[in-house]
Amino acid sequence: MNQVDYLRISLIDRCNFRCQYCLPQGAELDYILRQELLTHEEIITLLKTVFIPLGFTKFRLTGGEPLLRPGVVDLVQDIAALPATEDLSMTTNGFLLSSMAQDLYNAGLKRINISLDSLKPETFETIIGYNKRGIWQQTWNGIQTAYQVGFDPLKLNVVVIPGVNENEIEDLAALSIERNWHIRFIEFMPIGNAELFSDNAWVPSEEIRQKIRDKWGLMESNIKGNGPADVFKIPGSKGTLGFISQMSECFCDRCNRMRLSADGWLRPCLLNETGQIDLKTLLRQGTDTTEIKEKVAHLLHIKPEINYKQRDSGTETGIYQRTMSQIGG
Ligand code: GTP
Ligand code: 5AD
Ligand code: SF4
Repeated sequence: MNQVDYLRISLIDRCNFRCQYCLPQGAELDYILRQELLTHEEIITLLKTVFIPLGFTKFRLTGGEPLLRPGVVDLVQDIAALPATEDLSMTTNGFLLSSMAQDLYNAGLKRINISLDSLKPETFETIIGYNKRGIWQQTWNGIQTAYQVGFDPLKLNVVVIPGVNENEIEDLAALSIERNWHIRFIEFMPIGNAELFSDNAWVPSEEIRQKIRDKWGLMESNIKGNGPADVFKIPGSKGTLGFISQMSECFCDRCNRMRLSADGWLRPCLLNETGQIDLKTLLRQGTDTTEIKEKVAHLLHIKPEINYKQRDSGTETGIYQRTMSQIGG
């Protein structure tokens, strides 16, 4: 059985983008009220008294957009300073990175994953749901700044959407040739966006690999992440290409993670809410942290049975209660 040692911590459910694949179109979300967010102190307490004693050593900060969380740099600093922290990373849309990358790095964040679905400003604006001039450039500048500051590895996430950015696969893959960047192609998942999703709404990773193979050749890489990506390389390139294939493959058996939502729900699986625990309420009711730890230990024990292997049965399983921006991807 896989060791579960990786916690994805959502810091806020708000986002400054409205990506088509992440938020249902036209939907008004009920954002979490500020007083319902786990506080800085509550997050640190949970790490120190519950997660670290249970063996968690890898932490990823997510959102919504994590850089919108007030005090995010201080939180990075405090998590990085915990002796048990072996790996601290963040997934961001990059928009605020040009001004924040250096402070984050100095605070102890050493690696980062950034969403970039298109190299064309107009397509980018369509995908992210904003047509504000300069938004692509601002994001691209954020990526460049993160690179210059020294984040390593620097990973770019591309959700491939048929008819939208599918024709940019080669151009995006080419970013890994000259720079030590890790470009990851993600199969689009029907989560919180059922109306956008049809049988042909996702492109199988093998089809994407074939396009790249036809152009440059493709070899398996010996660099492995600790996530679900299968890692390959264009021969001679400095970076790598990752493929995250949750629709065409099942990687649940090697799942090593749990998720903590911004309002304190501990979720054992991205796509299945069975067994989730309201840690914030337990903390605020004054529950002893030893008791909270026991509840989390039990959830860890039953986690292998809570997964997305029932993917073919669709939404009837009642699994898509929250949007991706609310869960943090
Ligand atoms: P590292 O490999 O540690 O860098 O991180 P990661 O790839 O797990 O993190 P990231 O936030 O960049 O996630 C990229 C994508 O992977 C997400 O958008 C999801 O589509 C997918 N993903 C991450 N974790 C899971 C998971 O537990 N289950 C499923 N089905 N998909 C996941
Ligand atoms: N399917 C696949 N990936 C998604 N992401 C957001 N929504 C979806 C979806 N429906 C990805 C984004 C981001 C990561 C946290 O989640 O690309 O990089
Ligand atoms: Fe897009 Fe990320 Fe924001 Fe979702 S959380 S809308 S994927 S930028």
